Amino acid sequence: MMEKTFLMVKPDAVQRGLIGTIIARFESKGFKLLAGKLMTISDTLVQKHYAEHQGKPFYADLVSFMTSGPVFAMVWEGEDIIQIARLMMGPTDPKKALPGTIRGDFATRMNRNVIHGSDSAESASREIGLFFDNSELIDW
Ligand code: CMP
Repeated sequence: MMEKTFLMVKPDAVQRGLIGTIIARFESKGFKLLAGKLMTISDTLVQKHYAEHQGKPFYADLVSFMTSGPVFAMVWEGEDIIQIARLMMGPTDPKKALPGTIRGDFATRMNRNVIHGSDSAESASREIGLFFDNSELIDW
């Protein structure tokens, strides 16, 4: 099914100069970039984005990490992209992410895990709406 997903290069990966490498993986796979922007995110936006994790032990660190420097937020489109992008990212825990996946190749720590990707169609549409105005998505 043709789908859109929200992907975000996290502050650790922006700092390490990995934006281009990460974009290249999704381009080479055959997916289409519809929108992308370098931005700093407010506490309010992180809290909305990660509302489901509020109250968890790692939540405070997650919020301070995500607001510690710029992120690169993107919308991508492709066949079954939500599931395939998650395979390409690898599991949240870098100890379980195989080499060849983004986290397997570039991350060692759960709380500095390089990239975020939507986990379902509902999350994708919610997250795209939080970070982008409809007019920012290019139809091409
Ligand atoms: P992400 O897919 O962006 O969603 C929530 C983030 O919280 C997750 O990636 C991790 O970066 C971070 N996190 C830190 N500790 C944990 C944990 N124990 N379980 C799940 N997520 C965690």
